[in-house]
Amino acid sequence: MRPNPFAPIPVNLPASSSAAPIGIFDSGLGGLSVLRAVRALLPAERLVYVADSRYAPYGQRDDDFIADRTLAICEWLVAQGAKALVVACNTATAQSIALVRERLSIPLIGVEPGIKPAALVSKSRVAGVLATQVTLRSARFQALVERHATDLRVLCQPGHGLVEAVERCDIGSAELLALLRTYVEPMLDAGADTLVLGCTHYPFLDTAIRSIVGERMTLVDTSVAIARQLERVLDQHGLRASGEPAGAGADDIRFCSTSDGAHLHELAAALLGLDANVERVVIPSRRTRELETNAA
Ligand code: DGL
Repeated sequence: MRPNPFAPIPVNLPASSSAAPIGIFDSGLGGLSVLRAVRALLPAERLVYVADSRYAPYGQRDDDFIADRTLAICEWLVAQGAKALVVACNTATAQSIALVRERLSIPLIGVEPGIKPAALVSKSRVAGVLATQVTLRSARFQALVERHATDLRVLCQPGHGLVEAVERCDIGSAELLALLRTYVEPMLDAGADTLVLGCTHYPFLDTAIRSIVGERMTLVDTSVAIARQLERVLDQHGLRASGEPAGAGADDIRFCSTSDGAHLHELAAALLGLDANVERVVIPSRRTRELETNAA
């Protein structure tokens, strides 16, 4: 029998202290929208952010690839001393968070499309959801809809091409607007008054989306709710940093990218006003070792 690469392996974690950093990870730059909310709510916390941009978008990867990368990056963040982890990627959460929970005994926060808030705010009872194909077809997403949206018509639209646009720092070109129009106009025609941004890259597109939908839709972005959930979990574990804010500059946030980091630097400047010094990191995993071997 082939060994199961994801069989639980007890990992001995060092006892965490409240001064340790929080690890935040996304397939690429999208998790910066979550980092921004965490930084605003929990200014005393030190943060380590990993963008797996070399292998983004995850939405086009197979399930095993996403699980392999998610585990490898979470383990890497633990090895860097993280006291808690935020998987700031809907796709990785939908596909792999259960596996990470089995494997690592560390406070872990995932993200999921804001179906519940959409069900609370929609007056027309029709809501659109933009997310990756992997998120939309996941059992976790289906369960979310069944739990919170019984009297809501949910229009699911895979946002093909949107993660790629944000990864190249395109948040408002004419081509991007044309693509967005093909996604949201049919939702408006179907009576949707609410749009769930079900991917952490999409809050970067809120101005572009707003220019198409005007005031006809409420945009649901869960980044502030995720930061609050993180705050609760830190308190439960006695891990919340105390004292003065870690600082206003980029020094208290370690920005890491598996790619060259130029776009991470650009977006951190635009979004957070930070001149981030981006470290290029290599986080090997079974599937990327296979890719490198096949490419050689
Ligand atoms: N930010 C990720 C998410 O929330 C993007 C996934 C991808 O890389 O396709 O799903």
